[in-house]
Amino acid sequence: MSDALRIGFIGAGLIGTFHSKMLRAASAQIERAGVYDPDFERAQQFADASGHTVCPSEEAVLDGCDAVYICTWTSEHARLVEAAAARGLAIFCEKPLATDLATARSMADGVRKAGVTNQVGLILRRSPAYLMTHQLINDPQAGRVMTVIFGDDQFIPIQGHYGSTWRSDPQKAGSGALLEHSIHDIDMFHYLCGPIERLNAHRSNFHGYEHIEDVVSASLRFTSGATATLTSVWHDNLARPSLRRVEIFCERRHIVIEGDDWFGPVSWMDSDGSTGALQDEALVGAAGALLDGPANPDVAFVQAVLGNAPAWPDFDTAVDAHGIVDAMYRSADANGATVELRGMRK
Ligand SMILES: NC(=O)c1ccc[n+]([C@@H]2O[C@H](COP(=O)([O-])OP(=O)(O)OC[C@H]3O[C@@H](n4cnc5c(N)ncnc54)[C@H](O)[C@@H]3O)[C@@H](O)[C@H]2O)c1
Repeated sequence: MSDALRIGFIGAGLIGTFHSKMLRAASAQIERAGVYDPDFERAQQFADASGHTVCPSEEAVLDGCDAVYICTWTSEHARLVEAAAARGLAIFCEKPLATDLATARSMADGVRKAGVTNQVGLILRRSPAYLMTHQLINDPQAGRVMTVIFGDDQFIPIQGHYGSTWRSDPQKAGSGALLEHSIHDIDMFHYLCGPIERLNAHRSNFHGYEHIEDVVSASLRFTSGATATLTSVWHDNLARPSLRRVEIFCERRHIVIEGDDWFGPVSWMDSDGSTGALQDEALVGAAGALLDGPANPDVAFVQAVLGNAPAWPDFDTAVDAHGIVDAMYRSADANGATVELRGMRK
């Protein structure tokens, strides 16, 4: 028997394939175990490309691995996490954890009680662009963060390279652009600016899929005194697959993240007129020095499991973001009424 970590996959779609490819960088430490997807053709393609073995059921995957990736559509995550935790497996679960806050909380409680290593797919936590921005913000020369303008747009992901339509089904996705996509943005607000004290939000539904909002506009106030706006939209402009533009005004530094979520550029201008910009390999190199551990989230997960160390970002980090998403929906349902968040963990 080898000492390699046996990894299983449940869900062989877009993001499962992404993680499988990222795991190539850990190939010496892992053994490719089972994969299950009710779409047998997908499972077979995944297996052919990765070296995993197609299994006839979820249980067969779970019974044959030490660590499992849960990469199904969102509504299946909770049930599968529970089954994996009951077997003591390490778990990588995609974001959002669940279609609602209460379920996300109970999933985090479940993995904590089971004592299993857990990681969530809030991938921007390791993005060079956001790591560098965090560093630029925390440089005393910048002064305090005053306000942030966060724009996030993509074509509604039920077309193009997404190759599936479940994101228009509230039973599977829970809701729309905010939960399914901008939970990443909420997580970055926490990472860059700290706890949120209160917020207001509005949502719209231009496409008409029930409970699947395609625009969210929110206004946030942080406990630090900083404020922010978030505009998140799912449009039909197929020339814009997924783009974020983040503009941060500190007292003495202006920072912009644009282009690619990972490779930037990140540019800045200080009160003395000096400017800077980093992108691509230069950004990756500079940000890599700020990171304790690998930038590849899947290599980091494998190392955490093998080293019996906590993985990050963990389910509790996701629950914090779910709490803000839930508050935004509550505000939107009350015509943009202010929702106070004091007492939340973040
Ligand atoms: N972290 C990120 O940046 C990121 C990016 C994309 C998707 N996601 C998340 O990943 C999840 C999957 O998204 P996707 O884009 O890969 O979707 P997808 O449609 O490409 O793949 C999902 C797959 O899950 C399968 N599936 C459904 N129920 C299953 C079950 N019980 N057992 C096994 N397989 C099952 C489907 O047949 C499908 O093949 C979603 O929760 C999504 O929000 C995260």
